[in-house]
Amino acid sequence: MYKVSEKPLVSKEEIEKRLIVLAKEVDASGEYDLVLGVLTGAFIFVADLVRNLSCNPNISFIKASSYGNSTESSSVVIQGVEKLCLENKRILLVDDILDTGKTFFALVEQLKKLGAKTVKTCVLLDKPSRREADIEADFVGFSIENKFVVGYGLDYAENYRSLNGIFTLEPSE
Ligand code: IMP
Ligand code: MG
Repeated sequence: MYKVSEKPLVSKEEIEKRLIVLAKEVDASGEYDLVLGVLTGAFIFVADLVRNLSCNPNISFIKASSYGNSTESSSVVIQGVEKLCLENKRILLVDDILDTGKTFFALVEQLKKLGAKTVKTCVLLDKPSRREADIEADFVGFSIENKFVVGYGLDYAENYRSLNGIFTLEPSE
């Protein structure tokens, strides 16, 4: 069994502070037509990030599910992308966490295939030590160690998404 850490790894206040700076970095990098969030984990991050941006992009969400053990990028199932008009769009793809990188790798490939003009990537959290796919995010909130984290949209078996900060999941006796 697991329990959530008592202390946050990243507190609500630290996230709020970082988002102001991160949004400035995004604003300084150019214009975006569409902020595309990856459900479900990125829903809170997207909501907070876009309210810190000074540009005024459209906002949509897609769903990506990956199947754990497979090493194929085809193991990432993408839903909701077919009804979006991506032709010639400058997209900011936003997810909660960059882990092995397989999800972002598959998503960026798919968005480009569907005619996106540019695809930049933004994550709240990055676990660089876990990377398997050849991808880095253009904008990163926090780089963290290889720990399983929950809260601020991130889940463990659909639990803990509504926690205010980022917490680690620890084995309980
Ligand atoms: P990747 O394809 O391995 O980069 O997986 C990224 C996805 O895995 C994220 O969008 C999350 O949904 C999930 N994920 C990876 N690490 C964690 C974690 O520590 N906590 C919760 N979800 C995670
Ligand atoms: Mg996810």
